Amino acid sequence: MKKNLLSGVKPTGRPHIGNYFGAMKQFVDLQDGRGQASDSYDCHLFVADYHALNLIQDAEQMRQLTLDLVLDYLAIGLDPKKSIIFKQSDVPAHTELAWIFDTIVTMPYLMRAHAYKDAEAKNKEINVGTFNYPVLMAADILLYDTDVVPVGQDQKQHVEYARDIALKFNHIFKSETFKLPEPIILESVATVPGIDGRKMSKSYNNTIPLFATREEIQKAVMAIVTDSGGPEAGGVPTNVFVMHKLFKSEAELKPLYETNAGKYKILKEALVEDIDAFIKPLRERREKLASDVKNVIKVLEDGANNANIKANAKLLEAKKAIGVI
Ligand code: TYM
Repeated sequence: MKKNLLSGVKPTGRPHIGNYFGAMKQFVDLQDGRGQASDSYDCHLFVADYHALNLIQDAEQMRQLTLDLVLDYLAIGLDPKKSIIFKQSDVPAHTELAWIFDTIVTMPYLMRAHAYKDAEAKNKEINVGTFNYPVLMAADILLYDTDVVPVGQDQKQHVEYARDIALKFNHIFKSETFKLPEPIILESVATVPGIDGRKMSKSYNNTIPLFATREEIQKAVMAIVTDSGGPEAGGVPTNVFVMHKLFKSEAELKPLYETNAGKYKILKEALVEDIDAFIKPLRERREKLASDVKNVIKVLEDGANNANIKANAKLLEAKKAIGVI
């Protein structure tokens, strides 16, 4: 029996290797059957443009970032013949279902969301869309009878919100409309650190872009904050090593780090080589795909058609359950 997989990325800027290892790589691996041997998935991968609208409020930029993200999806190996690739705003059922959920979700419950609490702690005057973010995300997930949601650690709470909202809806409306989704979070890459050791994040300016040029890789790696990790680490710069492990196994890295203990420059140069060797083919694939914008638009059109069929069927069930139909 095939399981339903759904996940999304916000088009808020160039994806970085944290997005890739934490989530996007799993999209491709699971699409291609490289997950647990017995499981195969119907994959739904989308561009969360309405979520991004909380941040990107410039039409040209939104258009460009959206097309860019679809190119990124294709370049890492998402295949429109195997996966439904679409953008959120092309499927109105997402926002319609979010409204239905709004009527059963309370404000104190949403105030417990990490993202809201962070914004509040920084005294930011947040918009209603940001406050409501988890509700739209619950709609994204629940519309497709999703079983699994591959994400990084920072999205775990959002998947829990989706589960809670599904349970609450089913309970209030005495139905079994929504399935309970599970996150897929790989422990070793749950939170990929950035070049300053904090979580890699577009908003911290500490990223290595997934399609970075060699120069960009070089610049970012040379800026990695080196900390010898204390005497017990034996001259191994922790941040460099942790990053390196994304690209090579510990066994492969051991001799390099033993021979060059304390020699940060040599270790960083080796890291640049390994990141570039990994990114180069992706970068080249992306460049080729970028020459055919029509193809990207077609992928989104087909994806929207397929996603709308599924989402509308589920929305209809929800509308019957609440009694507007
Ligand atoms: P977004 O666009 O912030 O990030 C996309 C994915 O990348 C993961 N990620 C990381 N993983 C490991 N280490 C990191 N440093 C790191 N930084 C980011 C995120 O956990 C995410 O999986 N709310 C979502 C978008 C979304 C969504 C959905 C996802 C909207 N609706 C429905 C799943 C299902 C977001 O902001 O992701």
